[in-house]
Amino acid sequence: MAQQQHDQHQHHEGPEGYGSDAEFWDARYRQSDRIWSGNPNGVLVREVEGLPAGRALDLGCGEGADAVWLARRGWQVTGTDISAVALERAAGHAAEAGVADRISFERHDLGASFPTGEYDLVSACFLHSPGDMPRERILRAAAAAVAPGGVLLVAGHGGTAPGHENPHPELHFPTPQEVLADLELPEDGWEVLVCAEHPRTEAEASRPGPGFDNTLKVRRRG
Ligand SMILES: C[S@@+](CC[C@H](N)C(=O)[O-])C[C@H]1O[C@@H](n2cnc3c(N)ncnc32)[C@H](O)[C@@H]1O
Repeated sequence: MAQQQHDQHQHHEGPEGYGSDAEFWDARYRQSDRIWSGNPNGVLVREVEGLPAGRALDLGCGEGADAVWLARRGWQVTGTDISAVALERAAGHAAEAGVADRISFERHDLGASFPTGEYDLVSACFLHSPGDMPRERILRAAAAAVAPGGVLLVAGHGGTAPGHENPHPELHFPTPQEVLADLELPEDGWEVLVCAEHPRTEAEASRPGPGFDNTLKVRRRG
């Protein structure tokens, strides 16, 4: 079903100067051997630690740190990203960590195609892009991929701290309440576990500017 929703919108423009989002992200990843820290996102660790391992889908998995952390904890993970460069790197990190057999990597422009299957955890950590990625629609497809009893975790950048320049004025960083509203979840089918904004941690200092991040964690009723 998610696949059909996405087929209507096959092509997405990349940010200025790039033909597509894939080109932009491949170029971004090629800028250095590793653009992220290699550590899992703090929000993922915090919110997933207490969940029983099952099937997980990591949307915009980048260099694979979250996927590797999940696999180490016994999850069977599908990691997906638009960037072939990132995915190759992520597969290397999974192999180094000895968890390659518990992660499969799939390349998707999530605005155009979506992994099949249903998952006990769907995680979208900092799935932001300077192109015209249809984030709200992707997150609705993410919710549709959550199995009964499963969890959708969306972590995102929020506002810039007062007195600091917003380094990405072209991007709208929604509040967790906006993310929740955009998901259009039927109230009786889902339980909201976390819907909160919090100051960005030091570990995430490579993120755009001082400010706030937010977390939305919802569980599909079983
Ligand atoms: C800000 S990075 C976050 C990476 C990782 N989740 C993390 O938290 O470190 C956004 C990621 O989303 C990926 N991405 C951007 N647009 C995408 C799209 N349309 N489909 C799939 N992945 C996309 C990028 O390649 C990049 O790896």
